[in-house]
Amino acid sequence: MQLSFWFKPLLYYFYPCRNLLNNIEKLTDGQKGLKFMVPLCGKTVDMKWLAGKGFQVTGVELVTKACEEFFSEQSVKCNASDIPEVPAGKLFKSEDGKIKIYNCDIFNLSKESLGQFDVMWDRGSLVVIPIEDRQRYINLMKSIIKPGGKILLEVVEYDWNERKTKGPPHPFYKHDLEKLYGNWCTIEEVGRCDWFHRNLARFQGQWGLSSLDNVQYFMQVISSTSN
Ligand SMILES: C[S@@+](CC[C@H](N)C(=O)[O-])C[C@H]1O[C@@H](n2cnc3c(N)ncnc32)[C@H](O)[C@@H]1O
Repeated sequence: MQLSFWFKPLLYYFYPCRNLLNNIEKLTDGQKGLKFMVPLCGKTVDMKWLAGKGFQVTGVELVTKACEEFFSEQSVKCNASDIPEVPAGKLFKSEDGKIKIYNCDIFNLSKESLGQFDVMWDRGSLVVIPIEDRQRYINLMKSIIKPGGKILLEVVEYDWNERKTKGPPHPFYKHDLEKLYGNWCTIEEVGRCDWFHRNLARFQGQWGLSSLDNVQYFMQVISSTSN
């Protein structure tokens, strides 16, 4: 999959994700001021909601239009500056400093440029990374989350062999996550819903599937794991 795949209008939600809202206490233990990472953030309104709760939010998004539209549609004033280590990249920062979005390919960033985070909200991110870049993505995520840090991850479960038109999002089952995260995180399923029957035209008609579940996992970095 080419990165150009993303330069087209995408589906975005108008309300903060219910799965984030349902798990916010578990993710934060009621602490304020935590640093949240939202990799491959698009223009999700979750970032504004998190900032409104007193958290510091950093997103990473490839498409400039999505970054610009996030700030204009959410009526958040921002400034843009260069990212010295990423020549074509831009850093959008809200005037109050609570929300930052790195506008570049996430693989151009590192622990040195991003710093480390207490919490990661990974929806539509791991699942859209090309399969050949998956381990590289996880290595980067592992390097930027603090020991003891928490991750809320949303994935989809479906049979890849049934799918007629291949592409993101890729399916992940618990055994896949155990292979990728099991040696550095605890993994707990915290939610599951049947998306197949919500959109039969797409998942049965276009994709050719017989089931598709959206599943949420709460993961915590094992403190003794070194980054
Ligand atoms: C499915 S959307 C998910 C957006 C967001 N996480 C949400 O929950 O609404 C995936 C986003 O990842 C961005 N993206 C894809 N590959 C990327 C990369 N290598 N670096 C940064 N952003 C990327 C796309 O432009 C797109 O906005």
